[in-house]
Amino acid sequence: MAHSIVIFGASGDLTSRKLIPALYSLFCKGRLPEDTIVVGVARSEFSHDEWRRELREKAKKFLRDSYRDETWNDFAKRVFYSPGDLTEREDMLRLADFLKKTEPSADCTRLYYLATMPQLYEPAISQLGACGMVDRHSSRHRIVIEKPIGTDLASAKRLNQAAQKVFSEDQIYRIDHYLGKESVQNMLVLRFANSIFEPLWNRNYVDHVQITVAEEVPVGSRAGYYDKSGVLRDMFQNHLLQLLMITAMETPSRYEADLVRDEKVKVLRALRPMTGEDFAERTVRGQYEGYLKEKDVPAGSQTATFAALKLYVDNWRWNNVPFYLRSGKAMSCRTTQIVIQFREPPHMLFTASKKLIRPQANRLVMQIQPAEGIHLEFQTKVPDAGMSLRSSDLDYSFDREYHGEMPDAYQRLLLDALLGDASLFARSDEVELAWTAIDPIIAAWQSPSAPPVYSYQVGNWGPDYSSEWMERQGRQWYDVCPVLH
Ligand code: BG6
Repeated sequence: MAHSIVIFGASGDLTSRKLIPALYSLFCKGRLPEDTIVVGVARSEFSHDEWRRELREKAKKFLRDSYRDETWNDFAKRVFYSPGDLTEREDMLRLADFLKKTEPSADCTRLYYLATMPQLYEPAISQLGACGMVDRHSSRHRIVIEKPIGTDLASAKRLNQAAQKVFSEDQIYRIDHYLGKESVQNMLVLRFANSIFEPLWNRNYVDHVQITVAEEVPVGSRAGYYDKSGVLRDMFQNHLLQLLMITAMETPSRYEADLVRDEKVKVLRALRPMTGEDFAERTVRGQYEGYLKEKDVPAGSQTATFAALKLYVDNWRWNNVPFYLRSGKAMSCRTTQIVIQFREPPHMLFTASKKLIRPQANRLVMQIQPAEGIHLEFQTKVPDAGMSLRSSDLDYSFDREYHGEMPDAYQRLLLDALLGDASLFARSDEVELAWTAIDPIIAAWQSPSAPPVYSYQVGNWGPDYSSEWMERQGRQWYDVCPVLH
């Protein structure tokens, strides 16, 4: 089957940094379906060769050792450029004509990829519809929409409705690149291809869950965007809630897009809404020192660069088990990890110098990035030291077991979109329910009774208050930077 991938926003960063390198890597691995062409669309006037050259320079930079001149030249033969403004009917009709002439066959699968500024998503979609470039009854036509899907529930709904006017829901692929990460998919495997975890994965054995996405980098050159967004829109509404869904969901009956997404959506539906005092008690917000001096940050900005939330999934499995989610910029190190903190043993037999040893609870840490692996902590005896105990672990690292280079999330996502598998993409109800959970927190943080914005030093695990907040609840953050092998 022949395929064409039409990238709107061809001159942007996402195209050169992520999409083209991912397609080239798939091509090198022989995974890009044989008759596939890539057509870039943007306003700049490039010839096909000029655009290819431009992409080659960037590909060399981003792909480093995996770039090869010979394979690039083969790959580049499938890459084309069609200049045009996607808001202009004439330009879109010219593109339609170009596709007709260039596509390998008339029944080619066509994937439109919106890699433009989000303000252009709706105009692009409606032009595609108006120019007759979409058959909503054909599974051959699909569209990929990049994050952000709206900036709140109302705008997400507007975008979803605009997209559903032209495409049917199963033609729409909403990207959350966290779902393309190997170690996130491995969580599905860990949970649903092993039987030993399932009996423990509930309120009877789990004290609480921590999901941390810490970034070492500050906002840098993106402050103009970031200041309007803040950490809740930038990270929680999408990536952190995706990780929560995968951790908390029930087992789907089959690995099929809608069955997987049905189970994920049920988690969002079960989230306990926050009201009144909850915003002060169950949320922490912070801003790193020096954020106000970043270029394009308005004076006195209250935008949170760090947040911690305590969420509950009100269902039988998770009744009253807190899910602590936190994320921030300019933190101690880059790490994404999910910690399943098990309950303490109910009764302790062992003593040290006649004092009862405090029971140590087991912990399962799933490291998503940059150290990709799984780590289980349990108690063992210190040899030749009476009945003294120590914490030991079983450690699995992707790196030790797998010697290839870990693929970038976009490789998997682009291939799935091309082949029509939407399991790792967000459905409209998923996105809207995620905003339903996040919008009230954003509103509460903008209200006169908003909780304070705690400042934190660059290179910390967020504000000190975040640790005090956990300690008051008798818990501790797992503040551990991953060991990279
Ligand atoms: C993006 C956010 O969605 O995810 C960025 O807009 C953030 O602010 C990035 O840095 C993190 O992605 P990753 O894959 O580097 O963890």
